[in-house]
Amino acid sequence: MIILAIETSCDETSAAVLKSTRGHLELLANVVSSQIDIHKQYGGVVPEVAARMHVKNILPVVMEALATAKVKPEQIDLIASTAGPGLSTSLIIGLETAKTLSLAWKKPLLAVNHMYSHIAANFLKGQVKFPAACLVVSGGHTEIVHLKNYWQSKKLGQTVDDAAGEAFDKVAKLLGLGYPGGPIVSKMALNGDTEKYNFPRPMMSANNFDFSFSGLKTAVLYQSKKENLKWEPTVCDFCASFEQAVIDVLTNKTIKAAKKFKVKTVMMAGGVAANRKLRETLEDKAKEAGFEFMVPEFKLCTDNAAMVAIAAYYLSQKKKVKLDNYKKAVADPNWELV
Ligand code: KG4
Ligand code: ZN
Repeated sequence: MIILAIETSCDETSAAVLKSTRGHLELLANVVSSQIDIHKQYGGVVPEVAARMHVKNILPVVMEALATAKVKPEQIDLIASTAGPGLSTSLIIGLETAKTLSLAWKKPLLAVNHMYSHIAANFLKGQVKFPAACLVVSGGHTEIVHLKNYWQSKKLGQTVDDAAGEAFDKVAKLLGLGYPGGPIVSKMALNGDTEKYNFPRPMMSANNFDFSFSGLKTAVLYQSKKENLKWEPTVCDFCASFEQAVIDVLTNKTIKAAKKFKVKTVMMAGGVAANRKLRETLEDKAKEAGFEFMVPEFKLCTDNAAMVAIAAYYLSQKKKVKLDNYKKAVADPNWELV
């Protein structure tokens, strides 16, 4: 089975080709065209600009993916596209392209949930021992998801305000470091002292699996007003202390959830899962507590179409797979996973 997948939920235009042979998955192409250089001059993603860039890039990206995979349209068995959650104007471009190709090439269509795709990036590595608890951390979401199997999931908790990635982006902005914040903050944190500033660990001891990051961001803001941010070592200390606070909260709560729900596997997903220290810390804590641990390779953590293709493969294996219709599929910017 050959799947062509498209992802345009935010500011990456991506297309991927995945081949499955008796359950063995092989990623033949994963082309990602990033718009970061355009949006960083505005300090964040401008939805209208993102949509226009998607329009410009989507067909060349799809064609490049097919050429890299050496796959012709007639060899495709299924076309998949992200349909939400995400930016409405961005989602429409990818989904309408998928619908058009589905009609033109007479191929079945599957609309896929973006958060499920992030989680499914883990499934490329092979069999998962269920039940599992997945920490999903991106620019728009922060949640702990319980997975009974490949298809049945339940959200155990989520952020009540900012997402973890959003907190990285906002802290980077207030420290004058640019966009997107996660990779810059984590790089500067390498040269900083994690204990220099004792930032709060919001909701870490709360008896639930929810998160809150806006108070932490405000604490960084107030402290930053008292310090000289032109002195690079100080900025590095800010980054290290902030990153440690986020990691402590995310990892403690994930392990707490994994223990309470007696899962076999702890996994993580989403753009923030590209954070090396977070990966290492969660892996250490998960293994110490006796859980299996899974995390997608770095390039499958941030937005990409390979994860959409993997998600589509697993969804297509469901007994009663519900395919979409090119006339009816609509983008849903608020599509809740569970
Ligand atoms: O999943 P993603 O690519 O897009 C969304 O669906 O939101 O996640 C993007 C987020 C951004 O907020 C970015 O700052 C964050 O992931 N991010 C990181 C790192 N790399 C990307 N956060 C912390 N550390 C990183 N290394
Ligand atoms: Zn994402």
